[in-house]
Amino acid sequence: MKIINIISGATIIGTLFAGIFFFNQAQCDESNEILTIHNPISIYFSYPENIGKDDMPLDALSGASLREETANKMTNQQQISAALRDSTGADEFSIKTTEPYNSDYDLMRDRAYAEIDDEAFPSLVQDKLDLSTYDVIFLGTPVWSGHIPRPIATFLKHNNTQGKTIVVMNIHLGSRFGSTINDIKKLCPNAKVIAGISVRASDDNQSVKQKTLEWLTAHSFSHNTQ
Ligand SMILES: Cc1cc2nc3c(=O)[nH]c(=O)nc-3n(C[C@H](O)[C@H](O)[C@H](O)COP(=O)(O)O)c2cc1C
Repeated sequence: MKIINIISGATIIGTLFAGIFFFNQAQCDESNEILTIHNPISIYFSYPENIGKDDMPLDALSGASLREETANKMTNQQQISAALRDSTGADEFSIKTTEPYNSDYDLMRDRAYAEIDDEAFPSLVQDKLDLSTYDVIFLGTPVWSGHIPRPIATFLKHNNTQGKTIVVMNIHLGSRFGSTINDIKKLCPNAKVIAGISVRASDDNQSVKQKTLEWLTAHSFSHNTQ
């Protein structure tokens, strides 16, 4: 996949995001709660899995964790999910839209922002999943305009999360959790929603894996080791 490197633009926009959402960051930090995890699932949305054609270029902001200088082999959302799978035996589910997003940031941003402004529910390839056997849902979300991407909203609207613990695994370029925790709480009023890890899109896969494993060691016990 060809990656166009527009580092300076991404850096400037990242700084802007950090400033705009500083207030939210101060309000929402990674939780100190200790969880018992028996049957976890990792559910995530990663934009590079939602573009139309694999050979189209991703720009530096939208495909931030795949920028050339990171040498990353997968997006950081995929890395978190893989680490959860390998260390806890978590099943994995990637949220995919019926209509792919454009790989050009300017074009995809227009759609992404309009969906957020309209509180839209874009249609998904698979919107229902049997969650009955899972006690903990690791929910991987990037921050888009301070919020969850609306495909995640569609997924949460169609699935029963009553009584589940949802651990939010967040990827950002400065906003940290932004309003993602509140967005998820609104859509899942009968679930317990806590802040898991928050990593930068530009971090390298290895450090993200390490942070995920450290989180599991510090915050969980009784998870199935495989
Ligand atoms: C439409 C759009 C809006 C974004 N808005 C924000 C934002 O408000 N705050 C922020 O920190 N990062 C923002 N980003 C950067 C994303 O968080 C980053 O690209 C994403 O976490 C990378 O996820 P990935 O590792 O799955 O590729 C935005 C990215 C896109 C594409």
